[in-house]
Amino acid sequence: MSVENRVFEVSADLMTKEDIPEILDIEKESFPAPWSEGMFVGEINNSMSYCISARAKYKSESILAGYIIFWMVSPEIHLHNIAVKKEFRRQNLASNLLDVMDDIGRKAGAKVVTLEVRPSNTMAIKLYEKRGFVVKGIRKKYYTETGEDALVMWADIK
Ligand SMILES: CC(C)(COP(=O)(O)OP(=O)(O)OC[C@H]1O[C@@H](n2cnc3c(N)ncnc32)[C@H](O)[C@@H]1OP(=O)(O)O)[C@@H](O)C(=O)NCCC(=O)NCCS
Repeated sequence: MSVENRVFEVSADLMTKEDIPEILDIEKESFPAPWSEGMFVGEINNSMSYCISARAKYKSESILAGYIIFWMVSPEIHLHNIAVKKEFRRQNLASNLLDVMDDIGRKAGAKVVTLEVRPSNTMAIKLYEKRGFVVKGIRKKYYTETGEDALVMWADIK
């Protein structure tokens, strides 16, 4: 049965090393320069880093549908990674993961969130703009593999 015909229950939890193989598949379909296994292990082991996985559950099946990684650098949150498996996109999963990030940040006293995004990544920019992010700077040639600049976006945590 295809993913489209099923109703999944989605829940978010701390990322574990067992999640990494499915995460690497999502990385490969999502980014021109996917993170490596070692980078995810490093984040899971880093006490500054919050790593959250969203799993879609259907009967006994559990599919890793998305994830978010951010650092708390009080009073700022630095969003380092967010992606959603292609089949689960446009179902508010990224928005829900960003809500989880905001809730955790708010409780820890964070006031603002910042991130870098490729100017060519219109889907991500649309998501961020919808949530109140604005471009406040450009990092020249930030993405070394393509030489692309990064837009630096900021939003207040409400
Ligand atoms: C960007 C990404 C995380 C969005 O995930 P998602 O779960 O599909 O996003 P949501 O369903 O929460 O979308 C919320 C809103 O964002 C905007 N948006 C999201 N994807 C969009 C797209 N492909 N085109 C236009 N707008 C889009 C829309 O306004 C959407 O609201 P709507 O569906 O009511 O119109 C997902 O497309 C992805 O994983 N992309 C590859 C990885 C990536 O680029 N990460 C960001 C790195 S900076």
